[in-house]
Amino acid sequence: MKPVKITEGVYSLRANHFNRHLFDSLIPLPEGTSYNAYLVQGSEKTALIDSVDPEKAEILFDYLKDIKKIDYIVSHHAEQDHSGSIPMVLERYPGAMIVTNPKCKEFLMTHLHIPAEKFIEIKDGDTLSLGGKTIEFVFLPWVHWPETMGTYLREDKCLFSCDFFGAHLASSELFSVEREIYEPMKRYFAEIMMPFRSNIKTHLEKLAKYDIAFIAPSHGPVHRNPGFIMDMYSEWAVCGPRNKAVVAYVSMHGSTYLLVNRLISRLQEAGVSVEKLDLDQLDEGRVAMALVDAATLVIGTPTVLMGPHPKVAYAAYLANALRPKLKFVSVIGSFGWGGRALETIAGLIPNIKAELLKPVLIKGMPAEADLKQIDELAALIAERHSGLPACG
Ligand code: FEO
Repeated sequence: MKPVKITEGVYSLRANHFNRHLFDSLIPLPEGTSYNAYLVQGSEKTALIDSVDPEKAEILFDYLKDIKKIDYIVSHHAEQDHSGSIPMVLERYPGAMIVTNPKCKEFLMTHLHIPAEKFIEIKDGDTLSLGGKTIEFVFLPWVHWPETMGTYLREDKCLFSCDFFGAHLASSELFSVEREIYEPMKRYFAEIMMPFRSNIKTHLEKLAKYDIAFIAPSHGPVHRNPGFIMDMYSEWAVCGPRNKAVVAYVSMHGSTYLLVNRLISRLQEAGVSVEKLDLDQLDEGRVAMALVDAATLVIGTPTVLMGPHPKVAYAAYLANALRPKLKFVSVIGSFGWGGRALETIAGLIPNIKAELLKPVLIKGMPAEADLKQIDELAALIAERHSGLPACG
């Protein structure tokens, strides 16, 4: 395969992984993923920007088969989907030097056993000239690891952003299409960056001064509409939650399901947008995505083995780890004879600093009085949402 030209002297070396179904043994990949390396050729030097997951190293070396010399390997991030093939690149190009920040160097030495003498350390704002092409290093720590950074190719106005602005999407299209990229990018943001929102906000502010024509991330297609992409990130990372409730539930015998349906009807009647998640068909990415902009999470659970259904407990644990910007939370459900569903769920979500709205936990099949409690909960959620500030 030949390198794919983005602009003069700048090439995409994307390794698509169409049939990968799970990332980190955790994150579902409904559209596969890609690991994106890039090649930048100046009049004097050539730089490889990141590498690819070792599982797809043969694709990278196919792209590089006519490239006789690589002077620099710019490593943005030590996670091995981008760094894992660097030792193989060094074998093929023994004169190449890895250019990265001190923290990334430390990680690459630890994870990949690369010797210290193979590194050139740079600081935030440093530049590297390739001859007519100038790479500026832009530190972006805690995109989701502490050493993450990007690089800005000044002459071509190209931001190599690594995981930032990425999407788990295998595609033969070089550039992203707005109507197709929103959901994969939201899913990626939700799964990877949501807990680091305050850092993302800082990074968006830092990047505002750059004149960017292309954003070249390390997963998914290249973006040539940076305003659209930055606006999406701003909405997810900077804005407060929307007038939206997520109702995530499991029902064993249908009683909790009756409560869930009543709540959703009443919320919709009150003008609250609702996302209904049947956790029996758990897709961790869907749960994460739903939580990106929700103001309220209502957890619906039957009581089983004295506590919440295990699938509910897992979803609650996941929500807690993702630290969404929820303002309100509640629990509804039905039990047969007793249990500690509410206490167990509360213990699973200590990171969610949200107001607990009056739970509705009933015995058996809901009666009219139980459904009235659900109506009251819906009214309370709608009333709380009416006080949400607009973004801007
Ligand atoms: Fe795509 Fe954080 O690695």
